Amino acid sequence: MAIRIVTLFMIAFVLYACMPASAQPAVKTVPVSPTSAASGEQMFKSYCAPCHGLDGKGAGPAAAAMKRNPANLTELSAHNGGKFPEMKIFSTIKGDSDVASHGSRDMPVWGTLLPSVSSSQGEVQLRVSNLTGYVKSIQVK
Ligand code: HEC
Repeated sequence: MAIRIVTLFMIAFVLYACMPASAQPAVKTVPVSPTSAASGEQMFKSYCAPCHGLDGKGAGPAAAAMKRNPANLTELSAHNGGKFPEMKIFSTIKGDSDVASHGSRDMPVWGTLLPSVSSSQGEVQLRVSNLTGYVKSIQVK
């Protein structure tokens, strides 16, 4: 229960932090329960869909309140010569590399958020790995 509340606070904070000072449409935060590290799909729906949309195309409910549009995650292979840039996406999600080539990063750093729902650093790696695998699975052909 405690971990659920912590997660809820974190997500609420992340969404709040991403809103411009002159708040536009209020972002509704939904309770996010701890997810299974084994299910990339479940984690994506809980942690990523608010911004990137359930279909990963970038039109989640929080997208309107953000300065920068969340990326369309279904065309990553298409923009990379047909090959899914696995290593790059893994480190983008984890937060090792900056998403934007310049300017500030709007995308939450999941490498620092996921430990609160994980029991070890290995589990954090597994979560990022399974999230990467899920994003790979939604690429347009
Ligand atoms: C608070 C909103 C928000 C959430 C939640 C979010 N993202 Fe993002 N994401 C963004 C934005 C905005 C960008 C566009 C780049 C930037 O400016 O940071 C982005 C970019 C990305 C990129 C880079 C795409 C590219 O073209 O290289 C990936 C990959 C990504 N997100 C995956 C995820 C995954 C996986 C999750 C869930 C674990 C997630 N995002 C959760 C807002 C979000």
